[in-house]
Amino acid sequence: MKKTFDSGSVESICSWMGEHVAHLVPEIEHRAKAELAVEINRMKGERDAIILGHNYMEPALYHLVADVTGDSLELCRKAAVASQQVIVFCGVEFMAETAKIINPSRTVLIPSEKAGCSLAQSITADDVRALKARYPGVPVVTYINTYADVKAETDVCCTSGNAAKVVAALDSDRVIFIPDEYLARNVARETGKTIIFPDDGSNGCGPNTFIGWHGKCEVHELFGVQDITDVRRQFPDAVVLAHPECPPEVVEASDFSGSTSAMIAYVQETDAPHYLLLTECAMADNIVAENPAKELLRMCSHRCPHMAQITLEDTLAALQNLQYEVDVPEEIRIKAKASIDRMLEIG
Ligand code: 13P
Ligand code: SF4
Repeated sequence: MKKTFDSGSVESICSWMGEHVAHLVPEIEHRAKAELAVEINRMKGERDAIILGHNYMEPALYHLVADVTGDSLELCRKAAVASQQVIVFCGVEFMAETAKIINPSRTVLIPSEKAGCSLAQSITADDVRALKARYPGVPVVTYINTYADVKAETDVCCTSGNAAKVVAALDSDRVIFIPDEYLARNVARETGKTIIFPDDGSNGCGPNTFIGWHGKCEVHELFGVQDITDVRRQFPDAVVLAHPECPPEVVEASDFSGSTSAMIAYVQETDAPHYLLLTECAMADNIVAENPAKELLRMCSHRCPHMAQITLEDTLAALQNLQYEVDVPEEIRIKAKASIDRMLEIG
């Protein structure tokens, strides 16, 4: 978004907040947030830092201090070419780790040490080694929502924005696709593959098959078809967008599915009376702040507790104290980088 405020002026930021986020951020908080934002923006210059902000960041952080916003793929590309000495990653740990893997000479900071991810937590490097031993020669495609040691066991990474493209680029009709069960099921459907799981009793692996894993996003797994039915009963004209981490029946019942940035672009480029976004709720707030005429319906009971760890206060502390620095052992980093580089080559 083109910034229409002076990022070094509390008054200018307060006036922007009054116009754009008055209904999203309580007015009593505007001045305190504006003061924090001014100090963060000043510290960025002092530290030679860039702030990368995921689309799920809360509106003040997303609009007032992030230099670049985007989905995992866009932020990964940006991190790879960042020329600043310090990268502050306002997102979750696997994202900051990815930035360190691909741009190791930079100091990469994450403002909270508690910003994990249920998907990244769902699989270990030992699990991947066991899968490779059980299905020898089958390439491993790993969702970027994983930690470095898992990426190091991977042939090629993917994100929600390029998963089908990555699979199509492989010279193999069998793929170990981990760890998100629902993303795997959604991409398998899109690419005409059958899916099996190591624990479902199937022996061997036939042609045109994904070997999946039972990882789930603790936010997106909570959406159900009934949610769509309920909203459509009240708003029959609602266009429904679902992130591909949602269960396949939810994606099938939706009008559009794509990465967080693809969902934002869809809302910006179309003209529906109502939109329902089946994803972390902060993203709808960010879209509304930028596009006040759009009517976004919210299902805000499902929030990502990990993304919510990242606050303006902690972002300022990250710059002041150069905390929390993300590091990856060199041997793992080099192997993990190869799987990310392959993904970036594919697109
Ligand atoms: P995107 O890559 O689509 O932004 O997704 C990241 C994520 O963690 C979604 O829950
Ligand atoms: Fe992980 Fe889900 Fe949170 Fe995204 S929304 S960071 S996939 S737990």
